[in-house]
Amino acid sequence: MHVLGIETSCDETSVAVLDGEGRVLANVISTQLAAHAPYGGVVPEVAARAHLENLPGVFERALADARQDLDSIGLVAATAGPGLIGALLVGFSAGKALAFARGIPLVPVNHLEGHLFSAHLKGNGAPALPTQYPFHGLVVSGGHAELVRVEEDRILPLARTRDDAPGEAFDKVARRAGLGYPGGPVIDRIASRGDGSRYPLPVGRPGDGSNDFSFSGLKTAMLREFEKQQVDGSPLDPDTLPADLVDLFASFQRAIVTALLTRVESAHREEGIRLLALSGGVAANSELRAAAAGWGEEHGVPVLLPESSLTTDNAAMIAWAGLLRYRREGPRDFASVNARSRWPLGT
Ligand code: KG4
Ligand code: ZN
Repeated sequence: MHVLGIETSCDETSVAVLDGEGRVLANVISTQLAAHAPYGGVVPEVAARAHLENLPGVFERALADARQDLDSIGLVAATAGPGLIGALLVGFSAGKALAFARGIPLVPVNHLEGHLFSAHLKGNGAPALPTQYPFHGLVVSGGHAELVRVEEDRILPLARTRDDAPGEAFDKVARRAGLGYPGGPVIDRIASRGDGSRYPLPVGRPGDGSNDFSFSGLKTAMLREFEKQQVDGSPLDPDTLPADLVDLFASFQRAIVTALLTRVESAHREEGIRLLALSGGVAANSELRAAAAGWGEEHGVPVLLPESSLTTDNAAMIAWAGLLRYRREGPRDFASVNARSRWPLGT
C-alpha cells in the first residue's frame, strides 16, 4: 500500500508518495518564496491563492515521479494544522475530497508531528529507520521551537518558545539588517566565516526558571548592535560585510545554537535522552547540525539529522507521520475533522 501526503500549511505546496516502509518515491515541493520575498515574510492570502494554483500540478508530478496511479494509493495523509488557516484549507480539503472519491482513509496530520518523525526518513529511496520509543525530538522552524519526548502512544512537551521561534529570529534580524528573506540560510553562510565568540549576546530563559526558550531578548540586543554599527536596513551584500558585522552574525547564530543545546542538555540530565531527532527548517543550519552531532558523540546519544530536502516543509514527512498515526490508531471518521490554525503537539 502507498500513502499520499499533502502539505500546504505555510508557503510550500507539497505532495509526496511513500511506500509502506517509508521509502520516499516522490516528494515534490513548490516553494512560494519569490511570491512573498517582496514583503519580507509570508502573506497569508498570497499563500492560500498560490496553493490553489500550484496544488493540481504538484499532485500530478508527484504521481508521475513515483510512477504510480491513484489505484495504488491506499491512504491519504494531509496537514490539518497548525498553520495559516486559508493555506491549510486548500490541502486538507483536497485530501478529504480525494479520500472520499476513492473510498480510502484520510489521516489529519499535525504539521509538527510531521517534522518530528522526518529525521527517520532517508532521502535516497531506502526504507525509513524503525522508530524506537521513547525518543526526544527538537523541532526548530520559522514558527516553532519545541523539545518533546515521544512515546509510543503520546507526545510530551518539555520546552517550547515563549516568544519568537528561532527561524523567526533569523528572519527578523536578517530583514532588519537588509539581508532579505528568509534569513536563516544567508546568516548561516555569513556566520561560517565569522568568530561566534566575539559578541556576548543574551541567551535568555524566561524569568520563571522554566525550561522554555525565549529569543526576544536576543533579537533586541541585535537591534541595539545594529544601531551602534549603523546598520539601517538598506540592502546589504552578504559577501562584502565588514568583519565586525560578520562576527556579530556569527555570535547571533552561536547564541541560538547554545540556547537550543542547553535545553537538550537539561532534558538529558533530567530524564536521559536515548535518541535525539532534530527537525524543522532551522535543522538545516550547519552550526546547529555540527553542534548537535558533537553533543551526541560527547554524551553517547545517537543524533538523527534530517536530509536537507526534508528539513523545510514537505509532504514526505506528512505522509510518514500519517502512516505511523494510522497504524497506531486505525481508520477514523474524518468527515467532521477540520483544518485548524492552532494545534499544540501532543493534543
Ligand atoms: O520548517 P520551515 O520550512 O517552515 C516552518 O514550518 O516554519 O522553516 C523555515 C525556517 C525559516 O525561518 C528559515 O529562515 C529557517 O527555517 N532556515 C534556517 C536555515 N535554513 C532555513 N535557519 C537557520 N539556518 C539555516 N541554514
Ligand atoms: Zn514546518
